[in-house]
Amino acid sequence: MRVAMIGAGYVGLVSGACFADFGHVVTCIDKDASKIARLNAGQIPIFEPGLEQLVAANVREGRLSFSTDAADAVGAADAVFIAVGTPSRRGDGYADLSYVHAAAEEVAAMVQGFTVVVTKSTVPVGTGDEIEAIIARARPDADVAVVSNPEFLREGAAISDFKRPDRVVVGTEDERAKAVMRELYRPLFLNETPILFTTRRTSELIKYAANAFLAMKITFINEMADLCEAVGADVQQVSRGIGLDGRIGRKFLHAGPGYGGSCFPKDTLALVRTAADAGSPVRLIETTVAVNDARKAAMAAKIASALGGDVAGKTIGLLGLTFKPNTDDMRDAPSLAIVPALQAMGARIQAFDPEGHEAVALMSGVHFRTSAYEVADGADAVVLITEWDQFRALDLDRLKAGMRQPVLVDLRNVYNPAEMKARGFRYSSVGRP
Ligand SMILES: NC(=O)c1ccc[n+]([C@@H]2O[C@H](COP(=O)([O-])OP(=O)(O)OC[C@H]3O[C@@H](n4cnc5c(N)ncnc54)[C@H](O)[C@@H]3O)[C@@H](O)[C@H]2O)c1
Repeated sequence: MRVAMIGAGYVGLVSGACFADFGHVVTCIDKDASKIARLNAGQIPIFEPGLEQLVAANVREGRLSFSTDAADAVGAADAVFIAVGTPSRRGDGYADLSYVHAAAEEVAAMVQGFTVVVTKSTVPVGTGDEIEAIIARARPDADVAVVSNPEFLREGAAISDFKRPDRVVVGTEDERAKAVMRELYRPLFLNETPILFTTRRTSELIKYAANAFLAMKITFINEMADLCEAVGADVQQVSRGIGLDGRIGRKFLHAGPGYGGSCFPKDTLALVRTAADAGSPVRLIETTVAVNDARKAAMAAKIASALGGDVAGKTIGLLGLTFKPNTDDMRDAPSLAIVPALQAMGARIQAFDPEGHEAVALMSGVHFRTSAYEVADGADAVVLITEWDQFRALDLDRLKAGMRQPVLVDLRNVYNPAEMKARGFRYSSVGRP
């Protein structure tokens, strides 16, 4: 199959490289010329484990290429994927569909022959209808089927998620489009991955329902963590105690500083808007959004209370700034709420993240360091915000030796409270005595 992937970001680049690895001929298109120039020079613009090797191998074998110009690839494509961003619209929380609409206009001008136009971006219910209308208006002669195929990959494990997904969801009732989608995902068919064919609207909603449910699950355990702190229970054991129940499941039950990232915050908000507009409000998700926002804001106070309530003039060292480990993605990371709140209380911040280089542009007044030990140097407290592997096995004596006070706030429950106490730390974590 010939595939054109519009948008070479976290989803487009990974999906494009994986489809190429399945044996298809893929062109990833992005209007960001510097991104395409880097890709053509063999550089990967994002940090995603395994992606560099996967891209290099498929470029070498002639199945994967990059361009700023969509015309040739779209004209020749059996399937054109739209994988552009759908961020929150400023101010109102609706998904900003301007990139999707623009991509649909461009595709409309270029399609030739029967083409399946696949929305991989996360888009509100009814967006497929809009894309269909845009194409029909611009090119009444075009022979296209507009399909929804939401993506469920996680940054940091994106390649294995794409190649070994729990399921693939395809929203279309068009038999020709189903055949193309089956062929595209053929290696997964052979693997017996469940492929769920639904209507387009159902498929669009499945993606939001999945993300909202996971965000709710995280928020649930975060509230349980607060309750554990109030009543002297241990949230990790609560997680295990409930997670071993197969009806509940163990994943997404890790208490922490609140969910962030490129998807949950914007997708929960967008679902709230969609549901309200449809006259069918999703109150659990409205509450999830509010609880999570409040939680991120409350983390600075938690850190301050570990230092006796006052951080004015104190130096606080932060370990990890990205929204989770194994990605360089800073979108809606909890650190973006924690840093300015601590600064507003008068704290001086020094920080290190192995890959979160974008933080330099997003945070002002932060002293960036190049290792955990530099972050601890002269610090009144060290706060573990993102659980990168290298922060799980720190030389704690060395860390403590550089600190002004041995205060460690572990927002990811990586360390053992009893051991930390034995090593002389004033240690606090989330939802544990
Ligand atoms: N990041 C994730 O983990 C993830 C997971 C599942 C689904 N999604 C969804 O996938 C979509 C893309 O997310 P992302 O994280 O890859 O975004 P991203 O911002 O990393 O990438 C989007 C890319 O599209 C490009 N682009 C925008 N308009 C274009 C156009 N008209 N032509 C060509 N290129 C264009 C941008 O330059 C950018 O490189 C979003 O809807 C997101 O919700 C993301």
